[in-house]
Amino acid sequence: MAITFTKLGGHMAIAAEGLDLSTPPSAEAAAQLRQALWENQILCIRGQAIAPGAYLATISLFGEPQVRPEIPHVEGFPAVTTLSSEDRDLKGDGKRLVAGANWHSDDTFMARPSALTALYGLIVPEVGGDTEYANMYAAYEALPQARRQYLDTLKVVHAMKPAREGLGRTRSIAPEILAQCPPSTHPLVRTHPQTGRKALYVSRNRMDHIVGLEREEGHRLIDELVEHAIQPQFTYRHRWRQGDIVIWDNRCLMHKANGDYPEGARRFMQRIIVAGEVPV
Ligand code: SIN
Repeated sequence: MAITFTKLGGHMAIAAEGLDLSTPPSAEAAAQLRQALWENQILCIRGQAIAPGAYLATISLFGEPQVRPEIPHVEGFPAVTTLSSEDRDLKGDGKRLVAGANWHSDDTFMARPSALTALYGLIVPEVGGDTEYANMYAAYEALPQARRQYLDTLKVVHAMKPAREGLGRTRSIAPEILAQCPPSTHPLVRTHPQTGRKALYVSRNRMDHIVGLEREEGHRLIDELVEHAIQPQFTYRHRWRQGDIVIWDNRCLMHKANGDYPEGARRFMQRIIVAGEVPV
């Protein structure tokens, strides 16, 4: 059956229908899906009802799945982690834990941060729980040339343990995991390895400081860039349908979870991250 593609947002995001991923797609279909992702930054494959093995096999078509040992996973599938409305902040006040509720790009504290993230919506709330995205190519390209030239020169130190307070609830991280993840320094503007386009590379809650700037000055600059990038003309809001698999490119997007669904409503996602490269 042919795949039907439909654009979802003005600046980015495309949906693919007509696939049943319980059996592996043909090489031709896999190539079409990869192309759709590189061109649209976000690919939503609709209407899936598949087991973790088939999900993992699908995401492997886009790159190498990674294991994140500190996040709960599906039994027998360490690379398939889970995000649930039942997750609670057990070390804090016991309230609902919404992972990723700040604008961010995944795992920027790593020397090779994840290139892609996939979320599979097995249970989605009727109201709320959308995921928002900001197109960091478009945000960069909209800046005046002199500003872009200055930003091109900057490097940022990212750390697993957020250096800034007050950016929301995050999963607590065991000291032995923290010890395995020293800070990493990345350019503030990176060039995408597939498309050659430049994008702002910003993840507010992982950024420790900008090299050569006072900490507060660096944080102000990051805040200013985030505010710029989340203007409506650069963003897309994904309203989940049950069975959506959404794959996005962390190298040119920020994203944000929304915990705005009612208490008692359920949301259950399976997440896979795909290995990336050293940002340049
Ligand atoms: C994430 O930040 O990876 C989670 C996004 C979401 O749950 O909407």
